[in-house]
This record gives sequence, structure tokens and C-alpha cells, in this order.
Amino acid sequence: MKIIKVKDPQEGGKVAFELFKEALLKGTKVLGLATGSTPVSFYNEVTRSNLDLSDLTSINLDEYVGLDGTSDQSYRYFMQKHLFDKKPFKETYVPNGKATNLNEFVKEYDKIIDEHPIDWQVLGLGQNGHIGFNEPGTPTTITTHVVNLAESTIKANARMFENESDVPRQAISMGIASIMKSKQLVVMAWGVEKADAVKGMIEGPVTIELPASILQTRDNVTVIVDEAAASKL
Ligand code: GLP
Repeated sequence: MKIIKVKDPQEGGKVAFELFKEALLKGTKVLGLATGSTPVSFYNEVTRSNLDLSDLTSINLDEYVGLDGTSDQSYRYFMQKHLFDKKPFKETYVPNGKATNLNEFVKEYDKIIDEHPIDWQVLGLGQNGHIGFNEPGTPTTITTHVVNLAESTIKANARMFENESDVPRQAISMGIASIMKSKQLVVMAWGVEKADAVKGMIEGPVTIELPASILQTRDNVTVIVDEAAASKL
């Protein structure tokens, strides 16, 4: 793991953008993308740039079950607003939260990932150390699956909804095994709320109780943390 400490999310977004440009020069064609507030500063750098992304494919980590892309809390909506509407890609995949047969859908999503191996994966970090929506206790062998969200995740994500009761209780998420297939991974974390998860990810034992800790077993991982998120290292 390579750790880069930055002052704040804005500087972190700029550092991620520099890494992204290097990855493009090395031939990156498929991006794994994340939602949440963490990658926004990076997406802002991308949309402000003159980069042409029209030959890139993107595959998103996760989506809430029950929300379709027109719902402004859906991750599809988030991606359109923060990135895709401003910077067109060749093709963009986000799990379909309205899939009628979720069991079939997760298999289809795995097929998409197999057909488009991810070169460069962006990750945020849940306060409990989750990546994507892989909550503590998730086996590392799992591929795309339907998740029952942890109570702490529902609470942490309630700020995006009018009421906590509006937060969907389930999500579709790429699994840890799918994420670990990516050739290069960039994890970002900002704020003191992430400090424990950051410490566990970098210095703790590798355990399914803190899903991001498995990233210690990979070489091509860069972690970008601001001062507050790094405060317990
Ligand atoms: C959500 C998403 C994750 C994200 C995490 C952190 O639950 N499923 O992919 O990384 O929470 O969110 P935020 O960046 O808003 O702190």
C-alpha cells in the first residue's frame, strides 16, 4: 500500500486526478467507480479537465435496491450528475436497483465485470471499513451480491435522504473478490469519522470484520487520506 497524506479533500481530488492521468497514459480503458461524498473532489477535477473519456468504460460498485436512475438518491443519478453528464464515456454500468430478478441480475453484473476487467478502481471507505457495500463479516470470496445494509451504514447514509426510514435496507454491490481483481486501486478517505476505519485498513489485522483491511494484501493500492482521516495513524 502506498499512503499519500493531503491537507483536505480538494487536494486529495487533485492527487487522485494526477494518478488517473498517469493511468490513462499507461492504457487504462475500464474504470471502477464509487459514489458517496468522498470521490466528488476527484470527479470535479475530471469534469473541469479537457480529458476526452469517450473511449472509456466505467463500472460502478453499487446501487440501492428499489431505486431507479431517475431517483435523485440513486447512485446512477449521482454518477450522471457528478460525472457522466459532463464527461461522456463510451459506456457506463451501474447496477440496476429495479432489476426484477436480483439473483439473475448479480450474475449478469459479474459477466459485465469479467468482460471488462477493471484497470483502475476508485474506492471510498465506509465508517465501519466497508468497501462498496461489503459490510463487516462479508466473505472475501464473494462476487456481486445483494446486501442487507448494516444499521450503522443506514444511519451514516441517512443524510442523503429526507428521513432515515427512506434509506433502502438493501443494495446490490460488487463483491470483495470482484473488487480485488482490479489491476490498480485508489482509496480515498476524508474526515475524522473515517479515522478508525483508515487505521484498521492500514495498520490493523487483515480481517473480514474490517473489509478494507484486505487491501493490505495487494501491491497496487494507493490510499489518499486527509489530515483528519490520517489522525489515528
Ligand atoms: C456508501 C457507499 C460506499 C462509500 C461509502 C462512504 O455506503 N456504498 O461506496 O464509499 O458509503 O461514503 P462517503 O464517501 O459519503 O463517506
